[in-house]
Parts: sequence; structure tokens; C-alpha cells
Amino acid sequence: MARYLVTGCAGFLGSWISQALLERGEIVRGFDNFETGLKKNLAEINGRLDFVEGDLRDADAIARACEGVDYVLHQAALPSVPRSVKDPRTSHTANVDGTFNLLEGARAAGVKRIVYAASSSAYGNQPGFPRKETMVPMPIAPYPVQKLAGELYMRSYWQVYGLETVCLRYFNIFGPRQVPDSPYSGVMAKFALLMLSGEQPTIFGDGEQGRDFTYVANAVSANLLAMEAPAEKVAGRVFNIACGERHTLNETYKILAELAGFTQPALYGPERTGDIQNSLADITAAQDAFGYKPLIGFEEGLRRTVDWYKQQMKEAVPQNSLA
Ligand code: UD1
Repeated sequence: MARYLVTGCAGFLGSWISQALLERGEIVRGFDNFETGLKKNLAEINGRLDFVEGDLRDADAIARACEGVDYVLHQAALPSVPRSVKDPRTSHTANVDGTFNLLEGARAAGVKRIVYAASSSAYGNQPGFPRKETMVPMPIAPYPVQKLAGELYMRSYWQVYGLETVCLRYFNIFGPRQVPDSPYSGVMAKFALLMLSGEQPTIFGDGEQGRDFTYVANAVSANLLAMEAPAEKVAGRVFNIACGERHTLNETYKILAELAGFTQPALYGPERTGDIQNSLADITAAQDAFGYKPLIGFEEGLRRTVDWYKQQMKEAVPQNSLA
């Protein structure tokens, strides 16, 4: 029976991927250092996951975690464009050195395939929509540069060492378990929490920037499909994972507010440094190579997300509270 390693298993995507694999009856090891991952994300898989606490910057630790593993789903990263602008060195060591350590560990352990969480931010602000994988990447902030370096390393390990690697360029994944209250939180989680708490979110810029927002279940299914696809269709390749639709922040704000029962308008602030204006994916390559298709659309994803945060907030009320 195949064995799986999920890096970043306590994170937003890693925890959902680990859970999906365990629900299929697979043997799954998880690796996380809880730098951004949360213990509570492992609650539903506790006891079933072979959990290893460790840091990707520790080459020996990740090499040991790779032993006996057939497939790796590499989700661990120190995410966020603004975090990387503020502190590029820390995110560089986690994202670039960490990915390199994983590749070395995987190569030594004879891992068959790695599916890597790449980022659509690699396209940068160049003209031309929708984004196709054949475009030359033009990353701006350190974070997309780091994620792109990981992609190039993935391709190199396929070409040079025959380790099958597949890169999935995620486009703004959102949904339950995304951390909503960090200065580096994704916009969807942040806005949902603020609105449900009765606080006014701030839109950076005029709100007309657009994103190909993608519900987390779509990214989970893409990982499972990419892991199983024949090597000749996917090895050494890069794929966009998105819905193939662009939604502006102003539009997103309106729908979120409706779902959250929030009636105040947005505040507007200065544009964020290193931000890209638009993102929209062509997803035909992933469709053709491994049958990827978005399972949950934008509005349904928003509804599920707001419902989940509502539930979380209810559960956070202390047992003996009168609220
Ligand atoms: C996101 C991901 C990044 C991924 C990239 C491409 C997060 C935290 N970042 O970056 O990992 O590589 O997509 O898939 O998920 N905004 C506001 N107000 C706020 C917060 C954000 O207006 O309070 C705006 C930002 O300026 C930006 C947009 O919302 O224009 C999206 O921001 P964010 O959710 O941080 O995502 P990206 O920077 O697009």
C-alpha cells in the first residue's frame, strides 16, 4: 500500500489534504512545525495521522520524514506576499531552503512523486489574461520569487534525477480553516471574520482589483488527481488551479456582507505594496492532463466559508458564558 507525506499538515490546505487521504483509507504521515499551522486543524484526524513535528529548515528532520514514503504533497510554506516584503529572509529560508531540503530527502528516500503547492503570483503584473502556464513568469515580491524557485527545483529534480514532480499554481484559495486574524491573513477569511464581528473591513486600493478566488475543495481534488495521473501527462509540469473566473474585491465584499448580514460599507485605504492588479487562470491544461474541474463555485464557496466562521465563533463562546 502506498504511503503519503503531507508537509504543512496542520495548515489550511495541508489539513484538508491529509483528511481527504485518510478518508480514502490511505496511510498518511504529516509534517508541521506549527509556525503558521494550528493544532486544532488536526483535531478531526488525530490518532489516524502519523504526525511528525518538525521544520523543513532542518534537513535531517525532513529526510527522516521522507523514509518509506511513496508520494509527497508539499503544502508547507511561510505564505503571504506582505510577510515576504517585510521579512524576506525568514520566508526565503522556509520556502526555498525548505523545499530544497524536502527534494533532497525525497530523492534519498526514493520517493516516487511530489505534488508541490506553487503560486499564481508567479505571473506578476504582466499583460495577458487568462494566465497560461506557457507565459514567462514575472514575479514581483519575494514570496512569488521563492515559490517560483521551488517550481524550478521541482522541474530540475524530474529532469536530472527522475523524481516525478508536479507543480500546482494555486489562485487565491479560500475556505474553512484559513487563518482569519493574522496581519497576513487572506482577504476572504479576514473580511468574513471582521464582518461577523461587526467590524468594518478595509479594501486596499479602489477594490477593482480582481482575483480568481478558488474554494479549497477544488485545490484538494486537484492534488489527489495530480498525484494519480500518469507520469507522462504530469511529471515536470506546471498547472494552474483555479475556477477560471475573475471577481473584484468590491463584488466579493458585497456578497460576503450579504451572507454575513453586515450592512456597513467598506473602508478604503492605500494600495498594498507588491500587490498584483488582477489574476485569472486558464485551467484547460489541468483539465486535459488529469481531469481537473472546479467542484465548488465562487458563491457556494463563499456561503460555506461564512457558515464555517459563524460556527467557529459560536463554538468559541465559553461554556459558562451567558451569551
Ligand atoms: C494570495 C495568497 C498567496 C498566493 C496568491 C496567489 C494569501 C494570504 N495569499 O495572495 O499565498 O500565492 O494569492 O494565489 O492567501 N486586501 C484588502 N484588504 C485586506 C487584505 C487584502 O483589500 O484587509 C486585498 C489585497 O490588497 C489584494 C487582495 O485583497 O489586492 C487579495 O489579497 P490576499 O488575500 O492577501 O491575497 P494575494 O496577495 O492575492
